[in-house]
Amino acid sequence: MPVPLMVADSLVKRFPIRNGPFSRDAITAVSDVSLYVNEGETLGVVGESGSGKSTLGRVLVGLLKADQGTVTIGGKDVRELERRERPQTVQMVFQDPYSSLNPRMTIEANIGYPLRIQGSPRREIRERVADLLVRVGLHPNHGSHYPHQLSGGQLQRVNIARALSLSPKLIVCDEAVSALDKSVQAQILNLLKDLQSELGLTYVFISHDLNVVEYMSDHVLVMYHGEVVESVAAEQLYANPQHEYSRLLLSSIPSIDPDTRTLAHPRQTG
Ligand SMILES: Nc1ncnc2c1ncn2[C@@H]1O[C@H](COP(=O)(O)OP(=O)(O)OP(=O)(O)O)[C@@H](O)[C@H]1O
Ligand SMILES: [Mg+2]
Repeated sequence: MPVPLMVADSLVKRFPIRNGPFSRDAITAVSDVSLYVNEGETLGVVGESGSGKSTLGRVLVGLLKADQGTVTIGGKDVRELERRERPQTVQMVFQDPYSSLNPRMTIEANIGYPLRIQGSPRREIRERVADLLVRVGLHPNHGSHYPHQLSGGQLQRVNIARALSLSPKLIVCDEAVSALDKSVQAQILNLLKDLQSELGLTYVFISHDLNVVEYMSDHVLVMYHGEVVESVAAEQLYANPQHEYSRLLLSSIPSIDPDTRTLAHPRQTG
């Protein structure tokens, strides 16, 4: 029986906006969203720009406080996890691999930063970082490089290594491959999948790209204007799109020969 690791109940997130000097209003970025993610599985979240995906992701990891509703991970409210405990439970990987890193710190210092904050001894950090570099398909020598010396794909491997440094159970990926070339995308997606089966990780995988979400996910939520308009097992998404909006998303995908699809033939290195 699959066990839900993360459960979100009736989440609402509004942002105040000013219409004029005396007029205030609010937009509802996330509107009554409930979801769960089973341990070791991937929940995909797809939707067009502005549909509330990133806002939902930030609420799920506790970076943003919901106006209504709750998020629990392993039965604990994410906002009530202690400062030490939250990064050990859930991490986030973002779209832009370069700006997520400190350009003035070496790759080793970047990956080891969460460990340093937690007060791990220096030697332990060195060993852990060397291990993480290899785990994400980089060379231990990359540790002494600076971010500008690495490619986009390599930098996203560094971001993934940093997210893994405190051995979280859950990682929320927000457009984690959207800034990368197609062939590099496939490599990073496969790395994430390998890490998931090796480490038993649970993912929330956010993307505007339905192909990518379908490839990564066990279950998919389709968002539209802050609401979940469809919740469906990934394999049923293509077979039987229920909602008008999913149909629109699907029909906007260029048809590709299944035998030559990038994701079906990922390259191994790079
Ligand atoms: N900090 C903020 N302050 C005010 N409005 C915000 C803020 N963050 C997001 N919004 C608004 O909330 C809505 C949802 O934005 P969000 O970034 O969650 O969408 P998204 O689905 O991630 O879009 P994209 O695919 O472009 O990344 C948008 O209308 C956006 O303008
Ligand atoms: Mg976004």
